Amino acid sequence: MGFVNIRIAGWGHYAPEKVVTNQDFEKMMDTSDEWITTRSGIKRRHYAGPDETSSTMGVIAGKKALLLAGMQPEEVDLLIVGTSTQDMIFPSTACLIANKLGCPEPMAFDVSAGCTGFLHAFSIATQFLNAGLYKTALVIGSDTITRYIDFSDRATAVLFGDGAGAVVITTKGASKPMVLAEIHGSDSSGAYKLFIGGGGSAHPINVHSIKNHENVFYMNGKEIFKFAVKVSDTILDSLFLQTGLTPDQIDHYLFHQANYRIIESTANRLHIPQSKLIVTIDEYGNTSSATIPMSLSVSADSGKIVAGQKIILVAFGAGLTWGGMVIQWNL
Ligand code: UT7
Repeated sequence: MGFVNIRIAGWGHYAPEKVVTNQDFEKMMDTSDEWITTRSGIKRRHYAGPDETSSTMGVIAGKKALLLAGMQPEEVDLLIVGTSTQDMIFPSTACLIANKLGCPEPMAFDVSAGCTGFLHAFSIATQFLNAGLYKTALVIGSDTITRYIDFSDRATAVLFGDGAGAVVITTKGASKPMVLAEIHGSDSSGAYKLFIGGGGSAHPINVHSIKNHENVFYMNGKEIFKFAVKVSDTILDSLFLQTGLTPDQIDHYLFHQANYRIIESTANRLHIPQSKLIVTIDEYGNTSSATIPMSLSVSADSGKIVAGQKIILVAFGAGLTWGGMVIQWNL
């Protein structure tokens, strides 16, 4: 299938002010900076303040992206948010963000796919643009995972942070296709390896669900690690096969920032030099759906990503879901 011309008109990210360092964790639990750094690559993460939510962070990132694009909120006809920590069960975080940004009538909805949420949302947005139904989409990844951390589970607790990233894509003034190839999928046999059990219709939040620890995050880290390494390899092989591109023809590799060792494993297999890896996990930890758009925004702001470059995006997460895209950074 052919892809329509799309350009990246703007981007933005937001990380809460409050920083939690590995040294802070040393004071809270039996852990060490050395363990966290060598096992995950994380040094710091940002925690949302009491008044911050996935929608408030998404609004800040979205505003920055629109400003950079030189676009008015009225021009957004599609607004999709990848999140699994929505402000409320309903309405969607996308509708809350549309309201706060002043986007009058966009099609607005959330995509729940764990840490793959942004990449699925990004793909869905390009499909609507491809179909000619909409011209401009604001795609956001925003998560407030720290609200659900089980601080008695040290292997999981140290990994996560909060944040949001946003990208504006548009067919207006675009002269080249942005998406060169993509692959998405899921393996639902792993659904119970990574979940928050409470708050849904199966286990609404009440005294019993809180007593049973259903209001916090559960992750089988070892299993997810194995899955992530395997699926990242599969995704890359497929993207190279689809495009005929070779690893050296890609300018940047941006993997979901879950653990630096996962990134390193795939990079080593394909002999990808460190200079081509986009890594922000040291500063932000795992911000779930937000890792990819935050990292894109940080790298574009710093001038690391520039017009015309080819970038591979790889995500995996609860579901278990996964996605991969080769995009060209058309401005
Ligand atoms: O975005 C969603 C996707 N999530 C992921 O991709 C996460 C994937 N998984 C991982 O990143 C890793 O499995 C973890 C970082 C979660 C854990 O790393 P690991 O190398 O798999 O450690 P482990 O759970 O096998 O634990 C190794 C040792 C254990 O001690 P013993 O039994 O060997 O004595 C743990 O008790 O490390 C211990 N340990 C810790 N020690 C200090 C576990 N957590 C900690 C800690 N500080 N925070």
